[in-house]
Amino acid sequence: MIALESVTLRRGSTLVLDRQSLEIKRGELFYLIGPSGAGKSSFLKLLYMDLFPDEGEVRVGEFRSSSMRKKDIPYLRRNLGIVFQDFRLFEDRTVYENIAFALEVTDVRAKEIPKKASAALSEVGLSQKRNEYPRHLSGGEQQRVAIARAIVREPFVLLADEPTGNLDPETSLDIMLLLKKISLKGIAVVVVTHDYDIVQRVPARAMRLKDGRLEDVRLGA
Ligand SMILES: Nc1ncnc2c1ncn2[C@@H]1O[C@H](COP(=O)(O)OP(=O)(O)O)[C@@H](O)[C@H]1O
Ligand SMILES: [Mg+2]
Repeated sequence: MIALESVTLRRGSTLVLDRQSLEIKRGELFYLIGPSGAGKSSFLKLLYMDLFPDEGEVRVGEFRSSSMRKKDIPYLRRNLGIVFQDFRLFEDRTVYENIAFALEVTDVRAKEIPKKASAALSEVGLSQKRNEYPRHLSGGEQQRVAIARAIVREPFVLLADEPTGNLDPETSLDIMLLLKKISLKGIAVVVVTHDYDIVQRVPARAMRLKDGRLEDVRLGA
């Protein structure tokens, strides 16, 4: 589903990846751990092809970095869900409108939008908040809306950049359990975090990015 083949990526003077290879499968929850500045966000940018490798190849589904044309990028992005630490919701739209909007810009038929948006809301457990505005929600609820918006297009990959970075430990656990549940539906879920505690509480395959290398992390060690 996702593959890096001998990928090298430099950003400024930082060697983010030094000839690293990796495969992430459908239905897999994968953690990328690493200190600030290690290149975790850059790694995700490679996957949504906001950055391209200096050497090697990145594959996401059938999209290949080596043959990607600029006009293909929207097709890739339509098949990806992305969530961020700071939620990035539209403050002037309700919860429901935030989710429906993600479909309005696709070719989903207008009359199917309410059903799909409601299903995504229900999936994240927020049906009762559908008419609220983001500012009236807790951080955890806002992240749930962001996740609903990311999954409503039925992506094959979900990318999350520090999704629990602004949340307390209990709420972080809820969000990670939700992401785990989503992965079990056959989606590859990639979670970038510097919170090792959450990784131990919701265990899954984990690698650490350090000095350009991806190293296996043995949980509990
Ligand atoms: N736009 C940029 N131009 C040049 N270097 C950058 C840019 N953004 C980030 N970097 C550098 O790339 C490295 C990795 O950054 P980043 O991927 O944001 O790390 P992380 O998400 O792990 O904190 C850092 O050394 C950072 O200074
Ligand atoms: Mg980052």
